[in-house]
Order: sequence, then structure tokens, then C-alpha cells
Amino acid sequence: MPSHIDTALAFLEGNSSDLRDAHRAYRVLMRHSHLTDYFQGGKQVLVRELRNGPKQYPRVPYIGMTTLQEQAYCEWYCTHLYEGAGEVVELGTFLGSLTKSMVNGLRANPRSAARERKVRVYDLFWWDFIMEGCVKGTAYEGMCKEGDWFVEDYRRSIGAWIDRTDVQQADLTKFAYDQKPVEFLMVDVMKYEKLCVNVLRQFFPALLPGEGILFHQDYLHFYEAWVHVIQFLLRDYFEPVTPIDGSGAFVFRCLKEVPADLCTLRAPLKDSWSDALVEEAFAWSKGIVGEENQAVVTAAHVMMYAHLERWELAEGIYRKFGGLFPDSPAMAELRAYFEHRFHRILPDVE
Ligand SMILES: C[S@@+](CC[C@H](N)C(=O)[O-])C[C@H]1O[C@@H](n2cnc3c(N)ncnc32)[C@H](O)[C@@H]1O
Repeated sequence: MPSHIDTALAFLEGNSSDLRDAHRAYRVLMRHSHLTDYFQGGKQVLVRELRNGPKQYPRVPYIGMTTLQEQAYCEWYCTHLYEGAGEVVELGTFLGSLTKSMVNGLRANPRSAARERKVRVYDLFWWDFIMEGCVKGTAYEGMCKEGDWFVEDYRRSIGAWIDRTDVQQADLTKFAYDQKPVEFLMVDVMKYEKLCVNVLRQFFPALLPGEGILFHQDYLHFYEAWVHVIQFLLRDYFEPVTPIDGSGAFVFRCLKEVPADLCTLRAPLKDSWSDALVEEAFAWSKGIVGEENQAVVTAAHVMMYAHLERWELAEGIYRKFGGLFPDSPAMAELRAYFEHRFHRILPDVE
């Protein structure tokens, strides 16, 4: 197995055209923060630094709900892979941990078409209790209370990056996108059905065929199970590229224009999604995510039936497969969620 540094070198020196390698070279960035500073120097400077054996300066993550790996990937993508042919769109930003990463990348991108772009950021900017937990112990603690609008606080938090952003406060359950072609779509907002339905309808058909990248931030999380069925329904239009290790994100590439008439789901989905569709979708999804992500997709499979209020099926899937993953954090989260939210104890596994 080549090391991540070898992978990054092969990519930077033009010796690898493997899409997965290109998308995985961001791991080097994650470990070596000073390489970010060398972006402006271009590829040759980066290659020289990598060949010299870079010193280890671990990156410090930006405050938010994302991991260092996701931040490194977004920066890497926006520097090296983004062409500037379409928009960079961020759906669900919180305090902008990925906005900052994407802007860093755009600033360092050698292509003038890319350097002219801004990140188009969409969020409701309504502070909820989960957010308070995320900023505990940071300089943002106590900044807002539940129910506050925080768009101005967001603007302050991305102060040094704001010139490269176009921030719009929007309720994405209703928002109508202007349909400008999108080259990078970061989705961290498909948290309930109405959001899934409208984000799918408004943004997926705008993805550029061939170049459009869909960064599904919650694909590998037990809760946002809808996204597996949606990606299955659109499987002819997307190529699975890579999971982002150390996070819940998964990257897809848009192969051909997503027809608008395939993006017309309606909530509640329990009225239209059959058990057979769910089964096929999760079998497909387990086939694309890799061995290391089987547990979390199985947990999402159980959760899908909970979202659809098909409790027997949810419990049956858990009983059948739960025992395969005794140490899985996703399974533990699923069990805790069932108990806390539904007052249900998942059954003993087979
Ligand atoms: C998981 S957080 C995003 C985390 C972010 N990507 C980061 O870098 O930390 C989900 C975001 O969705 C936003 N959101 C929730 N409901 C929304 C809605 N109806 N319309 C737009 N944004 C919404 C929240 O305000 C929150 O910022």
C-alpha cells in the first residue's frame, strides 16, 4: 500500500489520474498543517516539501461540527481539483468550519476561474440547543441562546474569510435555488424529510455533469438514513468516489445531469417508500461504502425503518445484523437514540 505521502506525490506530479487517489491526498494536509501555507507556492513547492520529509505540525481544527479530515478534504478539493466551472455551494454551515476550509482552498487554487469564485453559503442561522453543546468551552460559549438568529455572529466568526463568501439566510425547506450550475455541493443539512425533499429538488439538478462533486457530510451517520435511499434512486447519475476517513462524509461525482423529474420526492416518505425499495437501497449502499463503514450503514438501515415508523422491521434488522458490530460507536448511538427518543430498547441480537 502506498503511503498517503506517496499518493499525494503521485497526484501532484501528475503520475496518477486515479480519482480516488486524487480525493484521498487531502490526508497529507491533515497531518501537516504547514503544507497549507505552501499552497500559494504551487505544486513544485509542495512536492519539494513532501520529498524532504515534512515536519509534523498537526492541524488545529476550526470550531464547528466537522472533523479535521473533512476540513482538510474541502480545502484540498478547492485548491487542487476545483476548476471554477460552477458554483461552490455550502448547505448548512453553523460557524463556518467548512466555509473557512473552502475559502482557503479557493485562495490557493492556481486557476484564475477558481480564484474568482466565492463560496455560496445557505443556512437558517437559528440557534438550537445542540449548537450550545458544540461551543462549550470555546470562545463562542454563551454567544447565543436557543431561538436566537445568529447570522451576524456567523459573519463575525468568518471575518477573515468573508470577502470570499456570499452568505444567504434561507430556510432550505422552502428556498428556491437560482439554478446556476454547481461544481461543488457540500450538504450538511439533510436532517429531516422536508429538508431532504427540497435540497434534492433545488440543488441536485444543478450539479455539473462530469465535474460536479457532491460532498454528503452525513452519509456515514446512523441518523440521516434518507440519503441512502435518495442516492440509490439516483445511482445511474452518480459515481461513488470515497468515504472521508475519520468523519461521516462520503464523496460522489455527478456523471450526468440529474433530471428534475427524478427529484420530486414528497414528504412524508412513508407514503411512497416501500420496504422493497429500502432493502434494495441499503444493499446497494453497503456495497459502495467499504468494509470499515458496514456498521454505520447497518445502523442507518435500522434508523430508516424507524423514520418510516416500521418498528418491526427496524427491530428485525437490528436483531439480524446488530451482533456483527458489537463495538461499533454508530450502533451504540443508535441504541441510545432509540431509548432516549422512542423509549424503545432494541432487542437482543441473534
Ligand atoms: C450540522 S450543522 C452544520 C455544521 C457545519 N457544516 C459545520 O461546519 O460545523 C447543520 C446546519 O443546518 C442548519 N439548518 C437547520 N435547519 C435548516 C433549515 N431549515 N434551513 C437552512 N439551514 C438549516 C443549522 O442552522 C446548522 O447550521
